[in-house]
Amino acid sequence: MFLKNTWYVAALSRDIGDKLVARIILAEKIVLYRTSNKTIVALEDACPHRKLPLSKGRKIGDHIECGYHGMQFDCSGACVLAPTQEIVPRVKIKTYPVVEKWGLVWIWMGDVDAADASKIIEINNYHNPSWGITNGGMMEINSNYLWLTDNLLDPSHVAWVHRSSFSAPGTDDTPLQTEVFEDGVVASRWIFNQPPPPFYADVVKFSGHCDRLQHYEVRLPSICINRSIFTPAGTGGEDHNLDDKAYLMISYNFMTPIDNDRTNYYWFQHYNTDVDDETIANRLNEGAKMAFNEDREILEAVHIGMTGKTTRNINLGIDAASLRYRQLLDKAISNEQQ
Ligand code: FES
Ligand SMILES: [Fe+2]
Repeated sequence: MFLKNTWYVAALSRDIGDKLVARIILAEKIVLYRTSNKTIVALEDACPHRKLPLSKGRKIGDHIECGYHGMQFDCSGACVLAPTQEIVPRVKIKTYPVVEKWGLVWIWMGDVDAADASKIIEINNYHNPSWGITNGGMMEINSNYLWLTDNLLDPSHVAWVHRSSFSAPGTDDTPLQTEVFEDGVVASRWIFNQPPPPFYADVVKFSGHCDRLQHYEVRLPSICINRSIFTPAGTGGEDHNLDDKAYLMISYNFMTPIDNDRTNYYWFQHYNTDVDDETIANRLNEGAKMAFNEDREILEAVHIGMTGKTTRNINLGIDAASLRYRQLLDKAISNEQQ
């Protein structure tokens, strides 16, 4: 079961060009391409004749041609040609609303009339030249998307899964606060007076120990925002005033369910130092990718373990935020099914 009346990331903008790109999103087959006026079209990836994926055909101008018997469809999904006969069948394939924003292609999977681009998440400072941004990326993970949202509401796992990157003293047992909002859940904590973790050690603009905020947030449908603040030890905490030395890093992670067993994971990082330094941007991006691969190994195995479990499993205190998030999502899904 998935939330339908919401925007999901279908692709990185840079990945949609002239070629036909096939995606499965919420178990629906979709083909994406860019037209001559640069807008992106998303159609059901199935010819109405024998259901050959249209992505196996080719683009002719702004039309898409089926690779089996040459039926052609326009950007609205309407059949405009059936070369094997004189009569053009009155048939239209499903189209999906698509919007490009924040370097991503967003697709609306629900009721077309309810699609509202203003509901796409706001990325503060995206156009602010004093903020840097990584190239981001995408990876396919063989796990249900909720094991990923669980993971991204769980700051404690870094102590074991990311020992060489995000882990530092205090990431294992400092208590967490959980906050529940209308459209999401936050698990957070300040960890005081500890060395910065290896991943951040040479990008923070001060030496010595730090105070560190771990803010892990998941918003409907499955957008995970991981905000880190590092300040010189003694200057962090709830009522901190961020000075020039504070290092902010926001990791945006967008989970798009392929189906119940697979997820496409899209991400980029946004940060307030070294904005023009490409080497640092690449290093941050590669570091994030390395960490996500560490998560991938765990979460694919968790998916198999939990799907095929033969004995009972338990929850821990650290699961409070993810359990609240699952409740929130369940409620949103059942509301739209009424
Ligand atoms: S399957 Fe597409 S035209 Fe026959
Ligand atoms: Fe992780």
